[in-house]
Amino acid sequence: MHIDYQETSKDLLTRIEIHEEYGSANIDVWTTDLLDPQPGMKILDVGCGAGKLSFLFDDYTKGGANIIGGDFSEELLEKARARNKERGSQVEFQFLDFNQPFNFADNAFDLCTSAFAIYYARNLNFTFGEAHRVLKPGGRLFVSGPLPENKQMFYDIIEEAANAAIPPMPGSSRFKGEIFGTIDSIFARTELRTFENHLTFPEVEPFIEYVRASLNEDRKLWTSMFDNRDEYEALIVKITDAARRRFERDGKLVMTKVVGGILATK
Ligand SMILES: C[S@@+](CC[C@H](N)C(=O)[O-])C[C@H]1O[C@@H](n2cnc3c(N)ncnc32)[C@H](O)[C@@H]1O
Repeated sequence: MHIDYQETSKDLLTRIEIHEEYGSANIDVWTTDLLDPQPGMKILDVGCGAGKLSFLFDDYTKGGANIIGGDFSEELLEKARARNKERGSQVEFQFLDFNQPFNFADNAFDLCTSAFAIYYARNLNFTFGEAHRVLKPGGRLFVSGPLPENKQMFYDIIEEAANAAIPPMPGSSRFKGEIFGTIDSIFARTELRTFENHLTFPEVEPFIEYVRASLNEDRKLWTSMFDNRDEYEALIVKITDAARRRFERDGKLVMTKVVGGILATK
């Protein structure tokens, strides 16, 4: 049996909807407060997915910025283009694989962003070197991703259900150390900001929906926990039981997303 770990638009959009419905804080507000993008800016959004961040900047600048969203998933690019058309906005969505040279001139962008994506890069020096190259002098890089304390309750429940240790997650385990260190070594100034969002699930089902929509995001976890569809479904039953026990004990399920934002200046 084959588990396809490539992010599907359905999983990504399910997670975005769950954050919107059950979250206590709005990451979009945090992002725009931090970056304050302006009309006239040239912005590159790397690993743009279905375009969430690109559209956020487009709304914030009232269509005044020149925004390019790049991703290697044609499925997600198609979603982004369809949404772009629906909105009547002028964001440009194009193929970009962040493990390959970026197809842009040097010193082209004022802002290069990447939300929950670029930390999967194979060679961090290469990828962040490309981000640095395409930014103008004084241009800013913004990279967001999970910190190690992210979603502790999610991992606790899965650990209890599977009765097995959770492997370090590739995103969060690299974010503060390796990724921050690489960016800091390439850029003139680098700082780390944090954002906390408490997701309060009023029942078990939406939490399980979130668990199922996390196959790609936490693929290292799942690879260590099951080999085929039957084992996966059996694990989901155990996770549901563990979540129910916690729900009965606490009357709710609260999962805190702890996100880091690395902000760097060329
Ligand atoms: C968790 S999603 C985040 C998407 C979007 N930034 C958002 O915040 O909704 C991760 C994204 O990284 C993209 N991605 C993964 N590897 C990539 C690569 N090598 N080059 C470009 N995009 C990649 C995936 O296709 C996916 O769209």
